[in-house]
Amino acid sequence: MAVDLLLGLQWGDEGKGKIVDVLTGNYDIIARFQGGPNAGHTLIFDGHKHVLHTIPSGIFHKTALNVVGNGVVIDPVIFKKELENLDKHKVDYTSKLLISRKAHLILPTHRLLDAASETSKGKAKIGSTLKGIGPTYMDKTGRNGMRVGDLELKNWKDKYHALTAKHLGMLDYFNIKIDYNLEELEAEFDKGIEKLRTLQFIDSEEFLNQAIKSNKTILAEGAQGSLLDIDFGTYPFVTSSNTTAAGACTGLGVAPNRIKDVYGIFKAYTTRVGSGPFPTELFDKDGEEMARIGQEFGATTGRPRRCGWLDLVALKYAVDVNGVTQLMMMKGDVLSGFDTLKICTSYNYKGKEISHFPYNIEPENVSVNYSEFKGWDEDLTKMTSAEQLPKNLMDYVAFIEKETGVPVKIVSVGPDRKQTIVR
Ligand code: IMP
Repeated sequence: MAVDLLLGLQWGDEGKGKIVDVLTGNYDIIARFQGGPNAGHTLIFDGHKHVLHTIPSGIFHKTALNVVGNGVVIDPVIFKKELENLDKHKVDYTSKLLISRKAHLILPTHRLLDAASETSKGKAKIGSTLKGIGPTYMDKTGRNGMRVGDLELKNWKDKYHALTAKHLGMLDYFNIKIDYNLEELEAEFDKGIEKLRTLQFIDSEEFLNQAIKSNKTILAEGAQGSLLDIDFGTYPFVTSSNTTAAGACTGLGVAPNRIKDVYGIFKAYTTRVGSGPFPTELFDKDGEEMARIGQEFGATTGRPRRCGWLDLVALKYAVDVNGVTQLMMMKGDVLSGFDTLKICTSYNYKGKEISHFPYNIEPENVSVNYSEFKGWDEDLTKMTSAEQLPKNLMDYVAFIEKETGVPVKIVSVGPDRKQTIVR
C-alpha cells in the first residue's frame, strides 16, 4: 500500500492538524516526519481545543497508530506536557504512540543556544520559536546529536554531559547574558526522559516499510510550511528541516515511489509568523481584519501573525516542489464580507515581470501584481455541502485550480472537524 502525504504550502499555520484529524479515519498509521515543538497543530472537536506540538494529529482517533519519525526532534520536557494533556482528556496513547529510535533529542542547552544565537543576530533575527530546533538539527548534521535510541544505552548520561559541556562552551563564545539555572532545567529534562521511556521506541523505518508491505495505509504529516523549508524556503528566514515532500522520505525512511497522493494545504489568504520577506503582506485595514477574524496568533508562541493576500506565485512554486495532487483550502470563511479580494499572479523582479518564485523575494527586489475578485457576504461556517458555497467563492477556487492545475478537494469553512466541505 502507498503512503499519502499532507503538508503546508505557505509559511506554516495552514491548518494541517485539522485536516489530518479529519482524514485519520482513512488511515491505519499517522506519521510525523520533521520539525518538533516549534509546530502547533490545533484540533477542535466536541467543544474542546487541543494543540499538539510533536505528537501526530491522529492521536485522538480510536485505532490509528501514531509514529514520531526519525526526522522529528523531540524535547522531552514539552513532550511530557503534551502527554499530560492527553492524560487529562483520558486519551489512551500507550499502545498507539510509537517513537523512532533515530529521532533526535532537544537538550535544555539547545534551547539556550537558540536564544543566544537569535539575540546575537539583533535586527536580522529569524524570529525563531526558540524551542532549540536550529541547534538540535545542527548537532544532527554535525554528527554530535543525541538520539532517542541512545537512552537505551547504559552510558547515555555520559553522552548527555559531553554534549551539554560542548554547548556551555559555545554559550561562552556568544558572550550574551542569558539567565538560566541548569540544575532546574536538567531536573525537568530528566522527568521528561522518564515519561518518554513509558512509550515504545521502535526502528520506525522498518516498522513503516513492513506496514506498507502488509497493505496498511499511512498518512505522513508535515509541520511548518513549504516556504519555511531549509532548502526551498525564504532562506535564512526558515526552519532547519525539509518541510517539503522529500522530507517525508528522509524523515520516515520511505522511498519516493511509495508516495501516492500529496495533499497541499493552503489558507485562502497568507500568513507568516516571525521575520522574513512576505511580498503580499498587508499593513492596512484588510490585513487587520484577516488577523482579527482569522484569530491569527501563533499556536505555539502566541505571537500575532502577519497577514496578506493569497500569493499564487509562491503557491504554484510549492505545488511544483511538492508534487501536490490535491489542494485543500482553509479559512475561506475568514474572507466573508470583503468587497474585493486579491490574488498575486506575478512579481516585478529587478525590472521584469515574472511568474516564478525567484532566488530572493526581499522587498527591494520584488513588488507584486494582483488580479481582483468579487468577495462574498455569506457566512460559510454553517454550510455543509459544496452546493451551498457562494458563486464568488467558487470563482475564486476555480481560478486557483486553473492556475495550479490541481483540484481543490476540500474547502474548510471553520476550525471544527465538522466544518469541512469535501468536493
Ligand atoms: P524555528 O524553527 O523555531 O527556529 O523558527 C524558524 C522560523 O520558522 C521562524 O520564523 C518561526 O516563526 C517559523 N516557524 C517555525 N515553526 C513554525 C510553525 O509551526 N508555524 C509557523 N511558523 C513557524
